[in-house]
Amino acid sequence: MRSSRGLVLSVVLVLFGCEEVTTLEPLNPDSFDAVQLTTMLELSAAPAFADERGGGVFVDLAGRVVRVRPNGDRGVIEAHPSNQILPGPAFGVWALGPSNSLVATSRGLFVADQGWLITPPWQLPAEGVKATALDGDGVAWIVHDTGLFRLERGALKEFKLADASLTGITAIASAPTLDASPGIWFARDGKLFAASKTSVTEYRVRDSGLSNDTLAGGVLGLVGIAPAKDSGGELWAITNRSLLLYTGTSWREYTLPFSPRRIMGAGRYAWLEAGDAVYRYDGDRRSWSEAKGLASSPTLVAVDAAGNAWVRVDTQMISIAASNLPRVRGLYQGARVFDGQLVLETSLPVSVTPSSVNWTLDGVTVHELDLTKGTVGAGPTADLRFFSLGGAEVSGVLKPVSFATLEDGWHTLTVTATVDDQPLVRKLHFEFRGAENSVVSWDRDIRELGVARCSKCHATGTTPELITYDQWRTNAALIAAAVRESRMPADGPLDSAGIAAIVRWVNGGAQP
Ligand code: HEC
Repeated sequence: MRSSRGLVLSVVLVLFGCEEVTTLEPLNPDSFDAVQLTTMLELSAAPAFADERGGGVFVDLAGRVVRVRPNGDRGVIEAHPSNQILPGPAFGVWALGPSNSLVATSRGLFVADQGWLITPPWQLPAEGVKATALDGDGVAWIVHDTGLFRLERGALKEFKLADASLTGITAIASAPTLDASPGIWFARDGKLFAASKTSVTEYRVRDSGLSNDTLAGGVLGLVGIAPAKDSGGELWAITNRSLLLYTGTSWREYTLPFSPRRIMGAGRYAWLEAGDAVYRYDGDRRSWSEAKGLASSPTLVAVDAAGNAWVRVDTQMISIAASNLPRVRGLYQGARVFDGQLVLETSLPVSVTPSSVNWTLDGVTVHELDLTKGTVGAGPTADLRFFSLGGAEVSGVLKPVSFATLEDGWHTLTVTATVDDQPLVRKLHFEFRGAENSVVSWDRDIRELGVARCSKCHATGTTPELITYDQWRTNAALIAAAVRESRMPADGPLDSAGIAAIVRWVNGGAQP
């Protein structure tokens, strides 16, 4: 029962300008003392998902889907009340966006979003999911036994090569391809391929040109490092003999005393498991360090964009980090920002008492935050204290930070918390696209999302009827409010990219 609509993307297969790796250098990592939190939770080693809130979505030993909070507590994630199908025992969780994930259960696939498990409007056999990758366009790529799929604005489409399904993919990552153009890398049949985007609907697929020697034993894992203001993204690949780095122009190859086993990444961080050790790569510092002080043989299970990893030792899940960096709500690593006004908050664990917290945009003016104005979160965020970067009205309503003066392009938001005289520095790189605000088009950007997520009810008798552009335009203000407040879709919320698309379309004058 596949609801994807066949081939929509044209794809061309050509060869890379055969660039071979020339040197084999030792990796020479430095080290850090890992800050550890042992959860006492017995969780399965199935793939899991960690996010900016500091926790993650895991599968427990009974097959339930649980949200683990930064303090090590957990809550079971329930099926949304309007779902027709109840999830069965779960066996894996993969990222679909900065805060939502794909959950495979014995009764089909679900999307975990805003505290619910939601039945998506499309289905694929759940046991076939192997991996996902997120690209800068808000597209989630899903590797499945039956082929490669793109999930964009709620609609699933198969990505085929010369009309054939791309079966047998073993790893995938979003990273720069030849000439640093954005794209997707995937490993298949022991070889490595890059699909570069050449236009909205066209990709060019190339073989990496790496020799059979270099790729001997196959590609065990791929990770993309999100781009930043002054560096493009990076691709890291592991084989059982080495680590490979591609920067969009050239390859490098690094050796370690032990064979790499597993690599995972989020935002600007990558984590590597090799021998008895776990290593962390910081894309801002461009260096690897070994996590010291861990119990033996940790297995990487999930990593987040704030530099945390979740590892399993025996059946225990442990969160590890180099330091507890401030987290940010309202922005994520590598985000595309279209709004000139954003409500941004930074959070620190309540157990941490900073002597100061400040933030800068592109390192320009330093804004000191008033530490007496922090508010402690509720529910899953009860152990975090939040500070609004824009301050708050007397009424308590948070004020936005204005990006109105930013030029279109890459920028860096830096939040620095000083704790015990130590600066904890969090950098978020984002691409500002303010100039595009006016050009959100219903036909191009909204129509398909509506068919995928609204038509089930609003084309079958529920008022307002939402089928034509005129009907959408007439109800634009109601629609924006309903999706922003997560009241609609009634069968489970949209992801943040979908909400942003609708709100931008309405703010831009509900253009056809
Ligand atoms: C599972 C069914 C279902 C889906 C899917 C759904 N809706 Fe609705 N919607 C309803 C029902 C039922 C009502 C009327 C009762 C109510 O307000 O809850 C409604 C009401 C509305 C209203 C008017 C009332 C209000 O709450 O403002 C808007 C606007 C709306 N929906 C927008 C959307 C949009 C946009 C989508 C897709 C992104 C969507 N809905 C998806 C069932 C659905």
